[in-house]
Amino acid sequence: MTDHLAKAVARRRTFAIISHPDAGKTTLTEKLLLFGGAIQLAGEVKAKKDRMQTRSDWMKIERDRGISVVTSVMTFEYGDHVFNLLDTPGHEDFADDTYRTLTAVDAAIMVIDAAKGIEPRTLKLFEVCRLRDIPIVTFVNKLDRESRDPFEILDEVEEKLALDTAPMTWPIGRGRTFAGTYHLADNAVRRMDSEEEVTKVNGPEADSAAGLLPENDREAFIEETSLAMEACRPFDLEAFREGHLTPVYFGSALRNYGVRDLINALGKYAPQPRAQKAGARMVKATDPKMTAFVFKIQANMDPNHRDRIAFVRVCSGRLQRGMKARLSRTGKMLGLSAPQFFFAHQRQLADDAYAGDVVGIPNHGTLRIGDTLTEGEDIVFEGVPNFAPEILRRVRLEDAMKAKKLKEALQQMAEEGVVQLFSPEDGSPAIVGVIGALQLDVLKERLRAEYGLPVTFEAARFNVCRWISADSDADVEKFVNAKRGDIARDLDGDAVFLASDGFSLNYEAERWPAIRFAHVKEYH
Ligand code: G4P
Repeated sequence: MTDHLAKAVARRRTFAIISHPDAGKTTLTEKLLLFGGAIQLAGEVKAKKDRMQTRSDWMKIERDRGISVVTSVMTFEYGDHVFNLLDTPGHEDFADDTYRTLTAVDAAIMVIDAAKGIEPRTLKLFEVCRLRDIPIVTFVNKLDRESRDPFEILDEVEEKLALDTAPMTWPIGRGRTFAGTYHLADNAVRRMDSEEEVTKVNGPEADSAAGLLPENDREAFIEETSLAMEACRPFDLEAFREGHLTPVYFGSALRNYGVRDLINALGKYAPQPRAQKAGARMVKATDPKMTAFVFKIQANMDPNHRDRIAFVRVCSGRLQRGMKARLSRTGKMLGLSAPQFFFAHQRQLADDAYAGDVVGIPNHGTLRIGDTLTEGEDIVFEGVPNFAPEILRRVRLEDAMKAKKLKEALQQMAEEGVVQLFSPEDGSPAIVGVIGALQLDVLKERLRAEYGLPVTFEAARFNVCRWISADSDADVEKFVNAKRGDIARDLDGDAVFLASDGFSLNYEAERWPAIRFAHVKEYH
């Protein structure tokens, strides 16, 4: 391990922001990028979001519905660190995209609206983070508005998420009286009007703490902070890194407040790029040979190029422009001639990337979600999941002559992760599967706009889909032969069992005890 590599790895922090729509993720992203110097003016992320939404027709869907479908990555430097922020779509219909993105981060910021507490989408996303023990820093946002009692919010996090909390700061006032935060461990105050400075004080009673509040509120503030200092759990780095405890910061993304605390916390406490499991081997971030995996494919980043970008997370070594990498799925070598970094509003050729970095690799369909790249070693990273679709449909073409074109288009969409595609063993037309109905809208619009294929969807007789496996291949074969009409193959050729409902699935599961029916498939 070279010193240079170890230093590069130690500087990196790769994270995502999880929240319920409207809690303030876009605003916070913008402020983080602003601190990182990645953008000059607040408002650019939103402006960019608007611009992107006009870029191609299918994105019209998200504009019309006011949602963000696009996942992207933003890299910025702040202090001694390089931050890679992976953005995730807010809408639950694109949940599988979000889950896959969360496999590529080492930490997350959870944004909670101070008036609303834990909302359903936050809970769901938190559960995904928990599956991977991703450490979470909590940001309680919108303190400049009427908010709930901070103790109540902490209790709710503990109860609903079964996650210990350690308040790091405490709000001085709330709503109209919000004047700053009190740093509990070091008795210091960050004032609303001077975000730059943290000033040591003698205690919450000090003029520069309680004194910032109207007289009527001072007593309550002193009581609250004293109680928080005495009764709340202190921050414990190990518990945080293991995903059992979250440090909590209060602030207002809109008013640019508390954001610096957050970014400092990520730099100071969040882990550097973690070791990743590849079969029996743990690949350390500082291992000298380059390894990486694809967690997302995005088409039409630039309509002038009709290119496809595979987003890869580097797991070890150094990814260099011009190097050749081995694609584990095929064993073939692939030239990385133009890997790219993404900033707030530009991409740039990436000459070098290290563990934790996310680079985009332009390609024409060679790379798929879940693919592993190495310098020659034959390993496959675990952990980019595929969830069984909740909605299954047959695609109906208006022009039957274009069946071959449709097949190709669906294959491409499936490789991008827009939909899942299943080819029935009995030769009947392919079935597409999605997690949320909006994904069907995106599919329909893209088939029309990009391939000139107007389609409609028809209910299939199946509503449930499970990947099947068994200890012995003979058992799988026996089941497949017996159930041929209900078996289909996914993109990788793996067999799924299709059932009309949960009842028939359970019925078959009881009759075929040797067969495992999985609703999550890890790419391998
Ligand atoms: P999201 O990405 O999580 O969906 O949330 P976003 O940042 O878009 O914020 C949702 C709304 O909440 C926006 O208002 C935003 O201005 C507001 N907001 C975010 N952070 C704060 C905060 O700290 N304090 C207050 N008071 N408001 C905050 P909007 O009216 O929906 O949109 P806009 O048109 O004003 O941007």
